[in-house]
Amino acid sequence: MLGGLPNPLFGRDIVSIRDFRRSELETIFQATTKISNMPYKERRQLAEGRLLGLIFYEPSSRTKLSFESAMYSIGGSSIGIADPSTSSVEKGENFTDTVIVVSGYVDVLVIRHSREGAARYAASISEKPVINAGSGAEEHPTQAMLDLYTIHREKGRIDGLTVGIMGDLRYSRTVYSLLYALSKYDTKIRLISPPELRLRSDALLDIRKDSWTQHTSIDEVISELDVLYVTRIQKERFPDPTEYQRVKGSYYVDTSILERGKSELIVLHPLPRVDEIKPEVDRLPQAKYFLQAKLGKDLRAALLALILNPDFE
Ligand code: NCD
Repeated sequence: MLGGLPNPLFGRDIVSIRDFRRSELETIFQATTKISNMPYKERRQLAEGRLLGLIFYEPSSRTKLSFESAMYSIGGSSIGIADPSTSSVEKGENFTDTVIVVSGYVDVLVIRHSREGAARYAASISEKPVINAGSGAEEHPTQAMLDLYTIHREKGRIDGLTVGIMGDLRYSRTVYSLLYALSKYDTKIRLISPPELRLRSDALLDIRKDSWTQHTSIDEVISELDVLYVTRIQKERFPDPTEYQRVKGSYYVDTSILERGKSELIVLHPLPRVDEIKPEVDRLPQAKYFLQAKLGKDLRAALLALILNPDFE
């Protein structure tokens, strides 16, 4: 423990990336690198005998499995509700009761819900720290931590970079967390989307005025980008299916687009990908999205270790 003080993440809820200072994000990145290089035996002691609870009201592959494998890798175990139809939710149990009960069984909770505000509410009633694994179209803070960690690892810095964010900017929660996180750094942001999928204007209040520009075509900005972050169209969040049909397939990345970019450009995507990154891109050195998904395990292991252990950093 530094001067007797616990690490700044100890016992914390992770609801919004806006709740974290840049120095706290850097504590998480350093802990991730440390945990990645730790001998197996030492790593397994970080959460020995501790239990993680997962409550997922929406589908998940990477987030859920990376949290579970992360907890296992630091010596802990996980229990959870992955499909509400097989739990007491099906009998009519509400979210409040589910969170109160599960928080009494575990040491830390990870929650994914289709409603904005669900994670903040869960944190206010849970006995134990709550990690937001996606709250509607609002935020996905641990994905943004992972996105920044990947950028830092691959580019050696975050300050000074030009980051293009292309896709469904209206409904992608990962985009909001990433934008709030990037605005703690000195970055230029290029928002690229069809007009129908532009960023919700309320988010612009939280990002520095002079840091972003808006575009409808990647051609306008590809040559200046250091990072290109792509998201899928969030079909499930469209209030009107005909609106989805109008924008479906309206943007994509392929090799010919990347040939016009810097050779050191990196392409990221939170995954799952549908058709917005052509499979031909996968074999290019720019493609970092599978590495990004892989790094999620150690980043989440570091986060859990920090939340559970006052003297880990
Ligand atoms: C994202 C999500 O759930 O918001 N997935 C993830 O956690 N990596 C992105 C998406 O579903 O498009």
